[in-house]
Parts: sequence; structure tokens; C-alpha cells
Amino acid sequence: MNFSRSDFPAGFQFAAATSSYQIEGHQFGGAGKTHWDTFAATPGNVVRAENGAIACDHYHRMEEDLDLMQALGLDAYRFSTSWARVLPEGRGTPNQDGLDFYDRLVDGLLARGLNPMVTLYHWELPVPLADLGGWRNPDIAHWFADFTTVLMKRIGDRVFSVAPINEPWCVGWLSHFMGHHAPGMRDIRATAHAMHHVLTAHGRAIQTMRALGVKNLGAVCNLEFAHPANDSAKAEEAARLYDGYYNRFFLGGLFQGAYPEDVMEGLAPHMPKGWEHDFDLIGQPLDWCGLNYYTCKRIAPVEGPWPAHDEVPGPLPKTQMDWEIYPQGLHHFLIWVHENYTKGLPLYVTENGMAHPDQVDVPDQARIDYLNAHVAAARQAMTEGVPLAGYTFWSLMDNYEWALGYEKRFGLIHVDFDTLDRTPKASYHALSDALTR
Ligand code: FCB
Repeated sequence: MNFSRSDFPAGFQFAAATSSYQIEGHQFGGAGKTHWDTFAATPGNVVRAENGAIACDHYHRMEEDLDLMQALGLDAYRFSTSWARVLPEGRGTPNQDGLDFYDRLVDGLLARGLNPMVTLYHWELPVPLADLGGWRNPDIAHWFADFTTVLMKRIGDRVFSVAPINEPWCVGWLSHFMGHHAPGMRDIRATAHAMHHVLTAHGRAIQTMRALGVKNLGAVCNLEFAHPANDSAKAEEAARLYDGYYNRFFLGGLFQGAYPEDVMEGLAPHMPKGWEHDFDLIGQPLDWCGLNYYTCKRIAPVEGPWPAHDEVPGPLPKTQMDWEIYPQGLHHFLIWVHENYTKGLPLYVTENGMAHPDQVDVPDQARIDYLNAHVAAARQAMTEGVPLAGYTFWSLMDNYEWALGYEKRFGLIHVDFDTLDRTPKASYHALSDALTR
């Protein structure tokens, strides 16, 4: 790596991230079914109809994975907790094995000197709640607060930080407008409701945790840089709107007490009743904000209903996901979020990394280059005054990449999905070296 730990201030958190459904092995330990199980079982939704039933079997290999994190020299580990593992029916009686599992995970991290960074929800909704309308139902804010209480009463005294929900854009737009993720809907009313309720649920969870005395609470948004596909005014407008519903909608709700006007032109007719009155709840004071950043998009106008635009391929080198590599976007967002929204709050890069068709023993130099370029962009933003407090790599290990199954490898550690053997990649060794310097 072309950076080292000594380039960063004392206390800066280097972390790696995973999420529950993507690594744990959901069939183990008494977890209830989630909408990802049913989405994946529906033909055409997921490559080879793969699901997270076994995933990396982290459920049984947690100790080995914790040792690998410690050997890497990380300061922290960002993981998520499965709602259906803790409450198999979504509400009601907790699954003690599930609570015990997260308890052991937190203690295992602390015993190795690693800070537990928790995300309460990273996309797998218990099916009994999906049956009640899932994110479309306003009651989800209360269900989510109840789940938060059960879990935090068990582990909330020992965690470093908590964010309620990973990537509200994915929960709302990607899953209810584009239909790419569970529950696979394509409906603007469902989208408007989900986008709002994901934020009311965030607010209730923050309130709940404040009341329980849990410390260091934040939010995690994914941001994508939108280039106009050409220099026409229409393309400019299309890219602006993409930036609106992707980047400005959730940050506006969380930090400005309002949704952007250009986005509301399309969504207002479909919003849930009384949405205008929820901003006090949504805008609960936070202690930090996390940014997940991967890529940029090229947005072209098309004829058709709102939002009337399309993504077109761009010219830059791409990752295995076909995502353009554009580290300038990370620099842009760190400055922009700090200046316009968070204004001095500590920021974290809570996810950054690339997919690459890695094989065991073939060096993943492309990932090393990608991470170097993005960490450099973040350091540049720090020299310009951004209070960046940590940088999290996605992902600790190869895992279930949602609708794309097990083919897209994001890990610093290679996972053989037949034997489940873990093998650190060259990027793992390079990072480990950087973190000791
Ligand atoms: C993010 C998700 C994470 C993973 C990466 C590649 O949007 O949070 O689970 O899928 O993308």
C-alpha cells in the first residue's frame, strides 16, 4: 500500500466490514426466514438462485474469522445483526441462540482489541414482517425499535458504535423501484413509503438507543457520483435528479429536516400521510455519519415518466461489477457532506472496495491499486479539513453479493465456497503491512 497507519491521526479506525446475511449462514442457529430467502427462491431474481443459507458459515467459523481480523491489524470490525436471527418472527420471543451468537461476537472482538461497529439492519427482513407490508408499513418503525431494544439490552453496553440501517437508498429505491433487491418491487408508491419509513425507523432506533444509554450513534448512507452522460442541459438535469433521490434525499431528511424539492416533484403524490411532520423524529442528533462509496454513474435523459433517465456505460476502467473506478467521487462526497450536511460531525468511510475475479494464490493487485487510490482521495479530503475518523474496507472476505450470488468477490480474504477455506489475498497482506508502519 502507498499509505501507512502513521499517516493518520491517533485513534483513526481502520476497519473491515461484512453483513450478517452475506456471511453467517442463515440456516444455522434457529434464525427465522427472511425476505432474501424468498426473493432468492423466486426464479430470475438471483444468479443461479443462490442464497445465504450457508454463505461463509461464519456462524461456525467465527473464531477463525476473528483471528484473521486481529492478524490483519485492524482497529475495528463493522458487522450487522440479523433481525430474524434475534427475533425469528420479527417480533415476540427472542431466539436465545441468536442473542448468544452476537454476544460471543462482541466479546470475541473485545478480547482481540477490536472495536465492534454494529449495523442493526443490513437488508434481511423477517418474512412475517414482509407479509405485513415490510418497509411500506408505517408500523415498521415500532417493530424496528423493539428489535433494537432486545438486541441492545444484550450487547449495547460493549459496542463502539451503532448505525440503525445500512444504505437507505438500497432499502428504498433499489428494492422497491428498481426491483433488484428483496422484496423486488417496482412501484413508485411502495418506493416513496419505503424511503420515508426507513428514515422514521432510523429515528425511532436512535431514540430507543439514547434512552438505553447506548453511545456513539450514527447513520450510514451510500453515495454515488452522477455524471451527465453528455453536455446537454437535459443530461445535466437528469444527473441532478439522480443525485437527488440517491444522495440528497436521505442526507436531507437526516440533517436538514427536509427532502429535496426536485425529488418531491416525483415522490410527493405517493408519500405516506403526514410525512411532513416526521422530521423531528428522523433528524435525531447523531454522533457521526458513515459514507459507503464505490463508483460513479453516467446519466442520460430518456422519454418517459419521472424520473425519465437511464444509465449508460462510461469510459473509465471497471471492476468485476462493471462499476467505473472513480476515486475523485469519494473526495467530492467527503467535502460535500461535511460542508452541506454534517458540518463538523466525525465522518467515517463505512464501505469501500472492489470486486475482482480472484483466484487463490493469484495476487489481487487491482484491489491494492483501487484501495490506494481511494484512501489517497480520503487523505486529500482530510488535509482540506474533513474530520474523517475511520476507513472501512468492504469486505473482510468474499461473500454473498446479493442478486449477483457468490461470483463477485470483494474480499481481502478469499473464500472457497466448496470447502469454505479462507485464504488471505495479497491485498490483505499489503494492508496488514501498512497498518504496522
Ligand atoms: C454495498 C452493500 C454491501 C455490498 C457492497 C458491494 O451496497 O452495503 O452489502 O453488497 O455494496
